[in-house]
Amino acid sequence: MTPDMTRSTDVVIVGGGVIGLGIAWCSARAGLTVTVYDEHPGRGASWVAAGMLAPVSEVHYGEEAVLALNLASAQRWPSFARELEDLTGLDLGLRTEGTLSVAYDDDDLRVLDDLGRFQAELGLVVQRLDGPACRAVEPLLHPRVRGGLLVDGDHSVDNRCLVPALLEAAVGAGVRIVSEPVAEVESGGGHVSGIRLAGGTRRAADTVVIATGSSRLGLKLPIDGVPPVRPVKGQILRLHARADSPLGTSPMPSRSLRGLARGQSVYIVPRTNGEVVVGATVEELGFDTQVTAGAVHELLRSAIALLPGIAELELVEASAGLRPGTPDNAPILGTTPVGGLILATGHYRNGILLTPITSDAITALLVDGNLPPVAEPFTLARFSPGLSK
Ligand code: GLY
Repeated sequence: MTPDMTRSTDVVIVGGGVIGLGIAWCSARAGLTVTVYDEHPGRGASWVAAGMLAPVSEVHYGEEAVLALNLASAQRWPSFARELEDLTGLDLGLRTEGTLSVAYDDDDLRVLDDLGRFQAELGLVVQRLDGPACRAVEPLLHPRVRGGLLVDGDHSVDNRCLVPALLEAAVGAGVRIVSEPVAEVESGGGHVSGIRLAGGTRRAADTVVIATGSSRLGLKLPIDGVPPVRPVKGQILRLHARADSPLGTSPMPSRSLRGLARGQSVYIVPRTNGEVVVGATVEELGFDTQVTAGAVHELLRSAIALLPGIAELELVEASAGLRPGTPDNAPILGTTPVGGLILATGHYRNGILLTPITSDAITALLVDGNLPPVAEPFTLARFSPGLSK
């Protein structure tokens, strides 16, 4: 079948989560003609996420390589948010009060202190607080809280405000959004030639960006086993301050809290609109997105142990999303051995955080042909030595 040449597009983006939409917006703004394909734009992991912009508090052992990328994207966030807000008039709910990680008991404190030492070795700015100092910062914390680590530079954004803002900005910049699944990326002679939609229609394209996160179900790519992305389930809760709170005032923390409570880690992210997000499990269960009673119980138990007022909030939603995990938990950005096939996926726990830097980096690649140096370590070539970048 001959590809349909009636609609020309410079770039096809497969996947309309925050990564795909961010790339679409930035590359359309840079002058490219862009089409995004996604059956439910913005409704995958982007919607379920908590929106933490916390590269320091969320640093994990063995993930030092991605830290520089995370920090660079955190730095880019304020201007990225401003550009989006100015353009759309929408409030992204960016919160800049910082993040406090706390420990409930002595064992939890030992783990937190190890983390604090690791952060210091990495040259990160973290303030160690004892229990009373934690409660001075966050008076609603449980009196048992033993100590904590305060990071002023770790922020949050409301991902459910980010999604519509990116959609509006992308469409405003001329991006076509097509709510149809893509079945196959087609190629010939070692170069992308276009896509085939699930309904059979074909579209010609010289450049296809794969931004599907973990939801690459059924999408056939012209290279076997690419990208090496697996789903990592996260169950998460959304609560809301009650207008008729028996406490008279809402038991809302003033900043993002992370914590360890009897060995269980939990985070609590307040929004400006009265929402509080409590998350999240980390489960290797394939494409399972069932919400379980046990996970809801564990998340609430840990959150209430650290911040008893959580028990007063209305439980509005329990959901599960799939983080796109990679073998080293860092994203896969850039070219592949097939000409014109570009990857922007595998953002694992950091999809919202990495949206600005990924959008900038992939736009630079699409426009100038080069990834910025900060993104260079994250090409597919790191998993397949010998593959050209
Ligand atoms: N970054 C938060 C999470 O992955 O649960």
